Amino acid sequence: MMRRLIFTLAWGWMALGAVAQTALPADAVAGVKSANIFQVAPGADTDPKYKDQTNAERGQVQPGNNAPMWRQVGQGVTGYSSLPLSQAPEAGNLIQKFVQYPGSRLTNAGEAWRQVRNQWIIPYGGSLLLIVLGAVALFYWRKGTMELHGQETGRKIERFTPFERSAHWANAIAFVALAVSGIVMAFGKFFIQPIIGNALFGWLSYALKNIHNFAGPLFAVSLVIVIVTFVRDNLPRKEDITWLLKGGGMISGTEVPSHRFNAGEKLLFWGGVFFLGLVVVASGLVLDKLVPGLIYERSTMQIANMVHGVATCLMMAMFIGHIYMGTIGMRGAYSAMRDGYVDETWAKEHHELWYDDIKSGKIPAQRTVTAPSPTPATTSTPASSASV
Ligand code: HEM
Repeated sequence: MMRRLIFTLAWGWMALGAVAQTALPADAVAGVKSANIFQVAPGADTDPKYKDQTNAERGQVQPGNNAPMWRQVGQGVTGYSSLPLSQAPEAGNLIQKFVQYPGSRLTNAGEAWRQVRNQWIIPYGGSLLLIVLGAVALFYWRKGTMELHGQETGRKIERFTPFERSAHWANAIAFVALAVSGIVMAFGKFFIQPIIGNALFGWLSYALKNIHNFAGPLFAVSLVIVIVTFVRDNLPRKEDITWLLKGGGMISGTEVPSHRFNAGEKLLFWGGVFFLGLVVVASGLVLDKLVPGLIYERSTMQIANMVHGVATCLMMAMFIGHIYMGTIGMRGAYSAMRDGYVDETWAKEHHELWYDDIKSGKIPAQRTVTAPSPTPATTSTPASSASV
């Protein structure tokens, strides 16, 4: 009862106020002057120095006109702030200075970053991925899976140790999680949002962003392990030149002999895993604010974001090829990374120089001391005991 009374009184009071306001004559608010600068000092802008006035000077001729200050804010001038620079480096700065990032106009840094992202990275990065996917699909349609030419011997060579495989798969799983979440965050609004709607897409990208942030450090650690593990056999050798000149034998149909990894794999290692991998990880750690001692300004994040976007698109494009060759592109490649072993015929046909080194005893065919039987269903034996 009491609450209803208060409610009614409040409504009545507000309604009376509204009526009184509309009914008041203009001079009823005597003493309160309009802040219209043209009425305060009508001729002030005829002064030739009018445009160069500081905010204080303008305040003297046109009280209340803060245009000089806002002009400076728009130009990115940093004002005074009592907050420490190390904790709030941009506290005195509302709008960033004008810059011209590669591909943008000369404009505020935030807008310049937006232009680079929306006019270059997203359309061209997305197109690159679609083109590479299309090329791989076309290649598979025309060529199919690369089969072995000879008969399998049943004698196995250990291609990857359990440690190498664990490092590879930890890295690959993190990579796929990052690639899927990254693609949805960058391109999802074009192909997922129209289907599932704004609310669901908001939740999806929020969840994926968190997955992305946590998978990143796992990728970083496993990437370093992968680099250290595989660097030795990816060092360039003179036979790689022949392999490259002949395009690996793709056109002739006869594979060019290679050591444990061919020149194509080495290019992927140095270009995709080492160079792009480290650029992606470094820029990602900046975006995650995990680099100690770095001052995180908006420009730091904008640059890290652009570098990350370009490097990840290139890296994904390269790894589409790697994943294709490691799965449906080449018979026996995936099982090598799954179980660790390849048949002697596979080794001879795809990495002949490596196979020769194993046959001559230069490289042990069995590197793990107590290896589990790779394919219990067959009578296969590690080549070390059977054929070397
Ligand atoms: C789903 C994703 C992936 C699949 C299916 C896959 C599959 C494979 C396979 C089958 C091999 C063995 C090739 C051979 O025997 O010569 C291999 C090797 C290798 N992979 Fe992956 N991989 C994937 C992702 C990755 C990622 C994300 C990285 C690193 C960023 C990576 C780095 C390597 C390296 C360094 C090798 C050794 C050969 C070389 O140095 O080029 N892989 N992968």
